[in-house]
Amino acid sequence: MSEPLVLGIETSCDETGIGIVQGHTLLADTVASSVDLHARFGGVVPEVASRAHLEAMTPTIERALKTAGVTLDDLDAIAVTAGPGLAGTLMVGVAAAKAYALALGKPLYGVNHLAAHVAVDQLEHGPLPKPCVSLLVSGGHSSLLLVPDVATDVRSLGSTVDDAAGEAFDKVARVLDLGFPGGPIIDRTARSGDPAAITFPRGKLDDGTYDFSFSGLKSAVARWVEAKERAGEPVPIADVAASFQEAVVDVLTRKAVAVCKAHDVDHLQIGGGVAANSRLREMAKQRCDKAGIRLRVPRPGLCTDNGAMVAALGAELVASGVHDSRLDIPADSSLPV
Ligand code: KG4
Ligand code: ZN
Repeated sequence: MSEPLVLGIETSCDETGIGIVQGHTLLADTVASSVDLHARFGGVVPEVASRAHLEAMTPTIERALKTAGVTLDDLDAIAVTAGPGLAGTLMVGVAAAKAYALALGKPLYGVNHLAAHVAVDQLEHGPLPKPCVSLLVSGGHSSLLLVPDVATDVRSLGSTVDDAAGEAFDKVARVLDLGFPGGPIIDRTARSGDPAAITFPRGKLDDGTYDFSFSGLKSAVARWVEAKERAGEPVPIADVAASFQEAVVDVLTRKAVAVCKAHDVDHLQIGGGVAANSRLREMAKQRCDKAGIRLRVPRPGLCTDNGAMVAALGAELVASGVHDSRLDIPADSSLPV
């Protein structure tokens, strides 16, 4: 049998992502983002995002099919993000996926968004080593996962106890009046700053867990900026951005390498929107090289939310012989891995 041709639907946040893959080959990755609609609110507004998904769904699927040069009839299965994510936006994707699966008589897979961020790596670097460790850092999550098998066995070893890493980037960008989403802007702004200018706290760095905490860091940055403003002094935006980013990246990479060592795993995969961060990619490479760990990070476009990741995990599930979810998929905003 040829490799499974799978269409993936992602609507866990503000990107309507439609991906089409054949096994580990990416045929289409089409994203319609509603990010501009949320910018003036400084964060994603769930109702606005849900409506945007509804409007974008059919045209985005049609564009993806055209790009891939396939028809709906050619598909072997449909996969959709079942959670975690925003309840309302997930529901739009799940309802669309069920409608397509029912109308076409195709198998339907509800997939976990976090596992999909890991699976997408296979589209760029081929099969994932079993096991690998994954550091998943996005606007909604900061998790360390042990991944014996991305289709069937993904274990959470730790996660954030408060803000996600991307959330901290977005909030600090707001404090600095830089715009939304803050991650990419801080990344760019930090390039002209000094990462050692200010020593911001590194939450939970040496607490012996694989959990993260970023809300104390975010508050420390806000307090530091307020103090400068109160004193009537100029805020060195680039230095604050670089020093904040350094603190986040330092904790993320140190804990990720520690997990690999503790579990004797020599491959680290990084995924999620924050994996697009240039300093994270650089520091992870340095620390992995030093520890003899092979690092896999997909290109930035595959790190942020997209449909290809959902299709990639769907194809893995089909290939692993996992039974499809039939039409029995819940849209679960806090779906565990
Ligand atoms: O994975 P993603 O697209 O959506 C979620 O599942 O949350 O991640 C979005 C998050 C946002 O918080 C955004 O600011 C952050 O990823 N992000 C970045 C960068 N690009 C996106 N954070 C730091 N540096 C970047 N270059
Ligand atoms: Zn995500």
